[in-house]
Amino acid sequence: MAGLMRSPAKMDNVWRADFPAMSSTMNGEPLVYLDSASSAQKPWSVIESLGNEIKDGYANIHRGLYRFSQEKTQKFELVRSRIAEFIGAPGPDTIIYVRNSTEGINLVAQSWGRRHLREGDEIILSEMEHHANIVPWQLLREQIGIVIRVIPVRDDGTLDLEDFKNIISPATKLVALNHISNAIGTRNPLAQIREIINSFNPKIRFLVDGSQSVVHGTVNLSEFDPDFFVFTGHKLYGPNGIGVLYGKYEVLETMPPYQGGGDMIEKVSFEGTTFKKPPARFEAGTPAIAEVIALGTAIEYLQAIGMEKIAEREQGLLDYATGRLQEVPGLKLYGTAPDKAGILSFTLDGIHSSDIAMVRDKMGIAVRTGHHCCMPLMHRFGIEGTVRASLGLYSIHSDIDKLCEGLAKVRQLMG
Ligand code: ALA
Repeated sequence: MAGLMRSPAKMDNVWRADFPAMSSTMNGEPLVYLDSASSAQKPWSVIESLGNEIKDGYANIHRGLYRFSQEKTQKFELVRSRIAEFIGAPGPDTIIYVRNSTEGINLVAQSWGRRHLREGDEIILSEMEHHANIVPWQLLREQIGIVIRVIPVRDDGTLDLEDFKNIISPATKLVALNHISNAIGTRNPLAQIREIINSFNPKIRFLVDGSQSVVHGTVNLSEFDPDFFVFTGHKLYGPNGIGVLYGKYEVLETMPPYQGGGDMIEKVSFEGTTFKKPPARFEAGTPAIAEVIALGTAIEYLQAIGMEKIAEREQGLLDYATGRLQEVPGLKLYGTAPDKAGILSFTLDGIHSSDIAMVRDKMGIAVRTGHHCCMPLMHRFGIEGTVRASLGLYSIHSDIDKLCEGLAKVRQLMG
């Protein structure tokens, strides 16, 4: 791709200035942050919102009749509606606050899974799942003897849907897949997958891990009709320690509590306890109050820009990055699906990925190396790990140029 334009000289991203981390340095070099799939930097509005929520009128929620408590409760509950609107969910009662996507999936496995699954029932995952969508099901397998079936990944990083059609069976009770692979960026065709499920048996439940997809474009649940959908705040330019589990209300109603404690009960005595309806039933204890409100601020920030605009810009940058990386001698890209998000995973001939990361750390370039919590996928490709550069809405063309300069330097030092 020798004909590709090099990066424009001027700054080509109007949103970058909203993120203070983008003007920081690492090891004395201007930070080139290409690890947003791991965790995203935060805009000023989120940083301020988080600070303000613990500084001004702080109080616990759902418990106080005084003004501060009631105001916080109102803000906290309003975010539920904003989240529902953001992902196209029918309403705030379908939105459960959890710590992160991992906790959301564990909740489904332990609550829905233990209530509805029996020994010999099958669930289907894929070879590209994050450990967070594998290990909770393995724990359940140990507890009740379910069977885990796996959809294979093809060489280009897409799912083999013909194989999926062979795996799905009368014993299948759940299909649980990621929307976008955190390791290689593939965007899975969820609408098509839902159709396959429905044509086989519409009663099969569908769980989608949207940790990466809510970040990279518009998500509208009605397009693939999941029974459960999870995502996490810290990748969505929001705070850590807050994530979301969406569940269809009629399914949530059938599920017992995941944890017991304050705020999820109707009546407690030593003889027994009755529980609130969802979502409160699943939110035991004091939640992450300021973090929920700041997540609302992050979503408000993204909505003001427009997720379509973010996706469109990122696609241009992804095309540019793909072209530039393909020029690097000895570089092999993993994940070349026609439909993918701004996540570029690669190896460099004969050079260990951690050596690559170390040299680049000294140059101020932050990337993730290793298995990306996807060991089965690495095994599928016959590698131990990759270097992964992932884009955020603040990424610019010169980040990619610097990444390529860094790779040339690595080659010079170690090649
Ligand atoms: N799931 C995060 C990642 O992909 C941590 O890096």
